[in-house]
Formats: sequence, C-alpha cells, structure tokens
Amino acid sequence: GFDVVCAGSGTRVSVAADESIVDALGRTGISVPTSCREGVCGTCETKVLSGEPDHRDFVLDDDEKAIAGTMMLCVSRCRSAELVLDL
Ligand code: FES
Repeated sequence: GFDVVCAGSGTRVSVAADESIVDALGRTGISVPTSCREGVCGTCETKVLSGEPDHRDFVLDDDEKAIAGTMMLCVSRCRSAELVLDL
C-alpha cells in the first residue's frame, strides 16, 4: 500500500492493495469525477505534485508517463511511499 495526500486540504489516506485511489479517496469523502473507471477515458486525470506514479492507464502515452505530470486515479497506483496530488 501507499499514501495519497491531497495538497489542498492536507488530507492523507492510505490506499490498500485491493482498492483504487478513487475508492480510497471516496472513503474520506473526497469524490473524484470518473466515467470509465478502466483507464481509458481520461475523466479522472489529476495533477501529480510529487511521488512516483505507477501508470496503468491507456490515456497517457509513454512520454507523458515519463514526465509524471498527471495520472489517472481510477487505475494507476504508486511506486513510492507517498503520492501528493493537486486535489
Ligand atoms: Fe476513465 Fe479514469 S475514469 S480514465
């Protein structure tokens, strides 16, 4: 698991291995707009401020994934201990 921190509110939530970031945030009352929930539509794209995303979507191309500027919260995960999001 890893932690997600919402930069705006400072809210921290730990994401279990069997849940998505969207679901983990939902438990704390933070709702992220979603549509496909399968990493194909781009609706849940969110800016990453720090941390190392583990991209599992089909929206970003390899160059975009290398920059790690944004990520899809419905399917992507995290390789570092913590991910700080622009939420
Ligand atoms: Fe479609 Fe995340 S909801 S890419």
